[in-house]
Amino acid sequence: MKLLRLDKYLSDMGIGTRSELKTWIRKGRVKVNGEIIIKPEHKVKVNKDEIYFDDGLISYQQYRYIMLHKPAGVVSATTDKVNKTVIDLIKDKNGRDLFPVGRLDKDTEGFLLITDDGPLAHRLLSPKNLVDKIYYAKVKGKVDVTDVKAFAEGVSIEADYITMPAKLSILHAGDISEVEVTIHEGKFHQVKRMFAALGKEVIYLKRLSMGGLSLDPLLHPGEYRELTEEEVELLKEL
Ligand code: URA
Repeated sequence: MKLLRLDKYLSDMGIGTRSELKTWIRKGRVKVNGEIIIKPEHKVKVNKDEIYFDDGLISYQQYRYIMLHKPAGVVSATTDKVNKTVIDLIKDKNGRDLFPVGRLDKDTEGFLLITDDGPLAHRLLSPKNLVDKIYYAKVKGKVDVTDVKAFAEGVSIEADYITMPAKLSILHAGDISEVEVTIHEGKFHQVKRMFAALGKEVIYLKRLSMGGLSLDPLLHPGEYRELTEEEVELLKEL
């Protein structure tokens, strides 16, 4: 059973800083199992004791899971000397070591999962797990059935490497074509390189979904929200 100091428990849950919490606990704003506790160092049993702050129940969440609508122009890293990172966009980190699950290119937009759950991230990124990723792309030139076939067979994107079969759906064919691509791997620049191998250039790329979770249409680029419990369960079942 996990034991935590009361002030640490509440700061982990984003209620306040450790020093704010020490003050608030001493003032009697916190109850454990119905009893006011005024010692910040009081040890609580995680997921067993009931902790109330100002009469609101504070449940313990071990990890955070955030859906970010990544905008173009920020990099998928935790730190960067030059560029703004996706982690810089998360304002309420509460001291957690958040990181992006995988990478989108600097100019790619769309669904990016941010978490501090290392084991889950590892599973989602493992090549063994074949997590579907769906992208919307604008491509220079006319995309046609030969491209659809090539994607379905797998495309050679580097010496001795042919991608797994991918699904290409043409939404609009023209001077600038619009397509939807489903891939199962996450090779560096994969979608751009698959088109480049067929002599075509991706000029806009947006990830619509990952592992069955779709980008929330209410999120504008740069905005984010916590995943719901159901969404987290869905990812854990993958
Ligand atoms: N494929 C790419 O080429 N770029 C991305 O950002 C994601 C997939």
